[in-house]
Amino acid sequence: MAQYTKNPPLLEAALAADPLIQLDRWLGDAQAAGMIEPTAMTLATVDAQGRPSARMVLFKGVHNGALTFYTNHESRKGRELAANPRVALVFWWDRLERQVRVEGMAQRLPVEVARRYFYTRPRESQIGALISRQSAIVADRATLDRRYDETVARLAGADVPYPEHWGGYGVTPQCVEFWQGRSGRLHDRLCYQRAGDGWRIDRLEP
Ligand SMILES: Cc1cc2nc3c(=O)[nH]c(=O)nc-3n(C[C@H](O)[C@H](O)[C@H](O)COP(=O)(O)O)c2cc1C
Repeated sequence: MAQYTKNPPLLEAALAADPLIQLDRWLGDAQAAGMIEPTAMTLATVDAQGRPSARMVLFKGVHNGALTFYTNHESRKGRELAANPRVALVFWWDRLERQVRVEGMAQRLPVEVARRYFYTRPRESQIGALISRQSAIVADRATLDRRYDETVARLAGADVPYPEHWGGYGVTPQCVEFWQGRSGRLHDRLCYQRAGDGWRIDRLEP
């Protein structure tokens, strides 16, 4: 097991009053540390029977106080979110020995916001989002490649139509925990919870 010795103490006094500002600082540190995907986060959802599932998605910024990501609404996660909007998110930056945990409620972003983001993506990603029936079983790789190539040919010279099955979600946090590795397993854990219009910060045992 690694000994976590990189970090100076994480002190209550040094934290931003708003956890989304604190998250932005830590994301900046992760970017500066040269992480390949500093914005990657695990998204955990539950289905209608309460069975959890988790996968990685990319954090794409804050919209109206919510952490956003983009995906296929008809995917497994999309269907689970329709049945139960409660989610958990986890960031882990190994180079910084830091973790952030978020719990909250997900809701779809307005279509205009998703559409605007969609057209900032590379064309091949737009086409990928258009033709993928994310989470469905596909007969083989060739079926997928054929569908992609046919769509590239069909759309030559034209804009990729915005796929109605694709969009964004915003996770409004109820609590956000900042974890930093420290030596002797006496890690720092500072946890924000909504309290009235603001946030209460508690220190948790490691
Ligand atoms: C680093 C990383 C980032 C990813 N980002 C996204 C993303 O932003 N949106 C997305 O739909 N899938 C993303 N994926 C793929 C998902 O992990 C997952 O395979 C896919 O969304 C299907 O999940 P589901 O079947 O549970 O809906 C990413 C995977 C990795 C490893």
